[in-house]
Amino acid sequence: MCQQFKVVLLLTIMIVLAGCSFFSIEKENKKVDISSDIATETLLDQPPIDPVITRDGDDVYIEMTSQVTNVEISEGVIFNAWTFNGTVPGPDLKVEQGDTLHFTLKNLDPIVPHSMDFHAVHAAPSKKFIDVMPNEEGTFVYSANNPGVFMYHCATDPMILHVANGMYGVIIVEPKDGYPTDDEIDREYTIIQSEWYPYDDYDALENGEPQYVVFNGSDFALTKTPLEAKVGEKIRLYVSNMGPNEVSSFHVVGTIMDTVYLDGNPHNVLKGMQTVMLPASGGAIVEFTLTEAGDYPFLTHQLNHVAKGAIGKIRVTE
Ligand code: CU
Ligand code: CU
Repeated sequence: MCQQFKVVLLLTIMIVLAGCSFFSIEKENKKVDISSDIATETLLDQPPIDPVITRDGDDVYIEMTSQVTNVEISEGVIFNAWTFNGTVPGPDLKVEQGDTLHFTLKNLDPIVPHSMDFHAVHAAPSKKFIDVMPNEEGTFVYSANNPGVFMYHCATDPMILHVANGMYGVIIVEPKDGYPTDDEIDREYTIIQSEWYPYDDYDALENGEPQYVVFNGSDFALTKTPLEAKVGEKIRLYVSNMGPNEVSSFHVVGTIMDTVYLDGNPHNVLKGMQTVMLPASGGAIVEFTLTEAGDYPFLTHQLNHVAKGAIGKIRVTE
């Protein structure tokens, strides 16, 4: 009996150890593959290409690229990014509730497959968010029936790598009847929070802290060139958090948000907010007025992320 137990125990340990080593080999291979891809890709710097967007009634034709392009994430710090259309974030898209999207992805990346996952649509991911192979293109059709501020991103495995390398952006679906506050708005801007991790460091992506947390792609984009407004104007921000891993506690210093539409849906109304929480992939419309001339910082109130770059400002003049 005792001997039998020992044998069973030994067999169990052997199976567990074998499982562990298979896992690490598999993971190691994945790492090696990704690294060699990246090593080849660092030679690439494909120039940005404008998206092509045309409308025919309620049919909107959107043509975008996936491509490898160098972007500046901090003064003098270049990241060899995986992008939509050569920018990080990718192009801001705006459509109307009820539109049918005819989306074409041209994958100009000669090595890595990419894909498109629009949070704004109902679709079977296994059919419509699928990989487009290197140097190929794919067209997918779906409707945008829900209003909101939605994330889009590449969903190719490993998704964390594609998002962390820069493949994301925002698609705004405007409600059929607009927002109740539309008439009050004088200016609007889009602000996208995201993280940058050390280049080609898969372990840092899964287990580490971001090196930069930024608005609109870099730690200087919205401080070096502040957003502009006049005293007393009603400002609308479309804010979205791409992650891949962190939440955002979005706050504008020196004001209180009059109206917030969570995820940009006109039914999700909040009033008098100081800070709005955006989960990874979450969005919001934030509206407020700045009553005195001066510089107003906006930031994520997770202050360690401000130190890493997640701050911008609005310059208000008379
Ligand atoms: Cu991708
Ligand atoms: Cu997603």
